[in-house]
Amino acid sequence: MAEDQSVVTNENFDSSEANDDKCTRTLDAAKTPHPRPTSFDQNLMFIEAWEHLRRSVVYYKGQAVGTMAALDNASGALNYDQVFVRDFVPSALAHLMKGELEIVKNFLLRTLHLQLSVKGIDRFALGQGLMSASFKFLHSFKVLHNPVRGVDTLIADFGETAIGRVAGVDSGFWWIILLHAYTRATGDYSLSHRPECQNGMKLILSVCLAEGFDTFPTLLCADGCGMADRRMGVYGYPIEIQALFFMALRCAVHLLQEDDGKEFIMRIEKRLQALTYHMRSYFWLDFQQLNNIYRYKTEEYSHTAVNKFNVIPDSIPDWVFDFMPMKGGYFIANVSPARMDFRWFVLGNCVAILSSLATHNQSMAILDLIEERWGELVGKMPLKLSYPALDIHGWSIETGSDPKNTRWSYHNGGSWPGLLWLVTAACIKTGRPEIARKAIELAEQRLSKDDWQEYYDGKEGCYVGKQSRRLQTCSIAGYLVSKMLLEEPSHLGIIALEEDEKIKPTTITRSTTLPTKFRGYP
Ligand code: GLC
Repeated sequence: MAEDQSVVTNENFDSSEANDDKCTRTLDAAKTPHPRPTSFDQNLMFIEAWEHLRRSVVYYKGQAVGTMAALDNASGALNYDQVFVRDFVPSALAHLMKGELEIVKNFLLRTLHLQLSVKGIDRFALGQGLMSASFKFLHSFKVLHNPVRGVDTLIADFGETAIGRVAGVDSGFWWIILLHAYTRATGDYSLSHRPECQNGMKLILSVCLAEGFDTFPTLLCADGCGMADRRMGVYGYPIEIQALFFMALRCAVHLLQEDDGKEFIMRIEKRLQALTYHMRSYFWLDFQQLNNIYRYKTEEYSHTAVNKFNVIPDSIPDWVFDFMPMKGGYFIANVSPARMDFRWFVLGNCVAILSSLATHNQSMAILDLIEERWGELVGKMPLKLSYPALDIHGWSIETGSDPKNTRWSYHNGGSWPGLLWLVTAACIKTGRPEIARKAIELAEQRLSKDDWQEYYDGKEGCYVGKQSRRLQTCSIAGYLVSKMLLEEPSHLGIIALEEDEKIKPTTITRSTTLPTKFRGYP
């Protein structure tokens, strides 16, 4: 039943975007008849990757609307034949960099329309602002009263059919980030200023900005609501979601129109300031900070507490002391009362660099860490999604003994070439492209030969993942984006944000966390 509710068919969509003259005109204007050439156009691996990417394109009513997750259906398609919002991001960027804009615009509009579907699980209605994690195209349903005519259908998954029934919190954020990327790539605000896009952004962010019982500016999430989309012990305040939340808020500030969004923009800016302060002070870990936490006093009460979350130093796992270099640092996986998850997650750290959630020094430190711990974080195939893998006890508790997430496999310490573009972009932003070049060279040794695998297993990422798909679109698109970024670093402007002075928190001291009345000024 839930599936029916999230369906968009010819019947209820026909006249909206695709047949709307205005829309068709803008789509045509956005179309670049001659894709931009790159110097890699003669490179065989690059050519092959583009061929695969083009084969993965999904069409709806004659329009390209996205790319499917993987072309490999040898082991049963499951949902790999769907267009995943998060997976489409590198595909979209590759198309934008090549000057092929239409597919991105169509994707943004179709997913926006799907957002309005009624969605729910059993009798529980899901929030209006939710963006689907994925959607699929179905052809030729027989229509009642007209058995001859088929109907093209888009079916969205908001979590009601996903394994574990978890909503993808990251989808809405990626959608806003992509709308911003499209606007940057084209210099054209006519799409983002359309009332439905303005409304879509507000719907997504209203869910996140709603006041509740929170005592922190971070966003409380269920496990499995991001790229690691199964139970992995990342419930609470996972870095991936916080960094994407931050970036989406910043993109929304650029895109929202002042006239009817002024109050909304002010709410976002206040949240950004608080979030910046919180993330930079409590999620950041380097040698010095580790030493501070190691010596924390516990059971502190009142506003003057240093160990605000009452982290028990004995809960620091042994591996962190060996892992932490003298030079380097990173945003840890999660911080909540009495619980710090010290694991490294690459996506959150790269998005922190790209969005300027990380200060310049923090960005440099993250790349220092990658260099210092190359064997662990890059190994033989870039890049480790998380480090280290959970031990057997942690695995049974945190993943619920998930056979897909065993030690050094899949999300639990597996290596994902699809993340290469994020690191490349982060390296270029920090002025250290040579690190990305090294990682890309590693990927080039195997990716095409292994048929563009989804992920690799093992401590060094040597083994093709146990349940990995071939021809995984984000591995293909991630490679293309990395190459194009390195060749033309100005493409970075599509996806990276410079630091915004307005949201820069003032120097962090203990007293700044006191309520104003205790600080002695009005
Ligand atoms: C896997 C990944 C997820 C991705 C999906 C489709 O479940 O963990 O992040 O979106 O496959 O490729």
